[in-house]
Amino acid sequence: MKLGIFTDPHYSSAELTCGRRYNSRSLAKIEAALARFAAEKCDLVVCLGDLIDREPTHEAEATNLAALARVFDTAGLPAAVVRGNHDAFSLSKEDFYRILGSSRYPADRVFEDKTLIFLDACHFASGRPYAPGDTDWTDTFLPDTDGLRARLSAVPGEAIVLMHQNIDPNIRADHSLKNAAEVREILEQSRKVRLVLQGHYHPGTENIHNGILYRAFPAMCERNDAVFISEV
Ligand SMILES: [Fe+2]
Repeated sequence: MKLGIFTDPHYSSAELTCGRRYNSRSLAKIEAALARFAAEKCDLVVCLGDLIDREPTHEAEATNLAALARVFDTAGLPAAVVRGNHDAFSLSKEDFYRILGSSRYPADRVFEDKTLIFLDACHFASGRPYAPGDTDWTDTFLPDTDGLRARLSAVPGEAIVLMHQNIDPNIRADHSLKNAAEVREILEQSRKVRLVLQGHYHPGTENIHNGILYRAFPAMCERNDAVFISEV
């Protein structure tokens, strides 16, 4: 299965935020990435979160997301977009996928003998989900670990796990799920996971831990070459 991957475009009208995020350039970068994925005949496009960033109004955020939806529509490739903490800060989950297109909701997908399992850690450690204007990038958590166990036990072959926030033990704790150790243990015990794909940690990194490769992709908003094609 050939995946076209990018993460953390943080698209907004701002030219530069945080000294290194070139937010407004991401629309053109995504257009170029999708054209390349189409030329390379990718089976699925995956965005690992923080597709958009904040604007002064929700109307402006919705307009930006609608512009991105048109870019995806034009490319015509199937896509799965995971929500990141910045997406959750701007728009509710319902509004996000209504505007972006419900086909881009990251439902689990089966390709031949592999199953893609998408996790949503846009929750506080209390279990409460993030809401517009009410998020904390250092407080992230996967509440339904029993559900994850059940999803993995139903997978016939190999599972690939995809998420915005991090469970790689080598990534700083403030970027990681509060229950990262528990989630890693569930993946290890399933014996079905050898690859975890993540965003959120903008420099990007790779690490093998207990037989699982954790790959965090560099943020598109900070680089001009953060477009990846991965045969998994
Ligand atoms: Fe981000």
